[in-house]
Amino acid sequence: MNAAIRAVVRCAVNKKVEVLGVFRGWRGLINDDMKELGHRSVSGIINQGGTILKTGRCRQFHTEAGQARAYATLKRHAIDGMIVIGGNGSFAAAHRFYKKYKFPCIGIPASIDNDINGINLTIGSDTAINTALGAIDNIRDTATSMERIFVVEVMGRDCGYIALAVALGGGCEDVIIPERKLALRAICRDVLKGYKSGKMSWIIVVAEGAGRAVDIAKKITQCTHLETRAVVLGHVQRGGRPTAFSRDLALKLGQAAVEKLLKGEKDKAVAFHQDKFISVDFAVAIKRKRINVDQWYKLIKILT
Ligand code: F6P
Repeated sequence: MNAAIRAVVRCAVNKKVEVLGVFRGWRGLINDDMKELGHRSVSGIINQGGTILKTGRCRQFHTEAGQARAYATLKRHAIDGMIVIGGNGSFAAAHRFYKKYKFPCIGIPASIDNDINGINLTIGSDTAINTALGAIDNIRDTATSMERIFVVEVMGRDCGYIALAVALGGGCEDVIIPERKLALRAICRDVLKGYKSGKMSWIIVVAEGAGRAVDIAKKITQCTHLETRAVVLGHVQRGGRPTAFSRDLALKLGQAAVEKLLKGEKDKAVAFHQDKFISVDFAVAIKRKRINVDQWYKLIKILT
């Protein structure tokens, strides 16, 4: 997100546009918590995870009174347009706000889950996947040396994208995601079959929205009588040094967002698709994203 902020500020300043950074998302608009950002305000942040503007979920923005206060702040400062960096929740709020006040807003898709409809890739997803992959590689050393089964829980509340990418890239034996019915019996059967033929270690990735690693590991132990351990990667995936890919995407989307807002586009998110910047209506972006999980899952199982 910091790379996106850097690009938005510097590209806007380059076009002689003044920029105000809003602290803590919608809460900052409601409470008039903003600061002018110039070229130098965003120095030295490109390599930092998170956001210098801070963020948070804001219930008050769901209320008419909260939205009215946010609109009053925008008017008080004579602000002409807004760029929102965030995921589904932020875009849904921006869309509601647009419908009510017709205030121009462009979204930059940022979510480690990569779960925004119509958008190929979101900022942060590559970084989170690489962090989780590093952990899986480390866990595999113990899994192989001590001949154990591991169930590794990654983030992904409604979407198995991180789990699938990590399972494929980490050479994992199975993956459990919210988009597929949990087939624990089949997993145990595969484990036992493998065990009989001399396969002694397994890594099974589970997306948090599909089940808890601790419960799944317990059930696998009960069913197979093989030592199974659970690891929860948790928020380690939401921070840290952004990858080159995440930075590149954030910087380019930041520039595209400024250009689209200045051209008069509104109520849309920017995305990078087949070498081009496209706009996706917020109304589309906030719908449930469907990915071809079956094809992905099949490949993971073929490669096991
Ligand atoms: O929506 C992105 C996400 O990283 C989910 O994968 C995860 O469930 C959630 O955010 C974590 O949010 P919090 O830190 O508020 O629990």
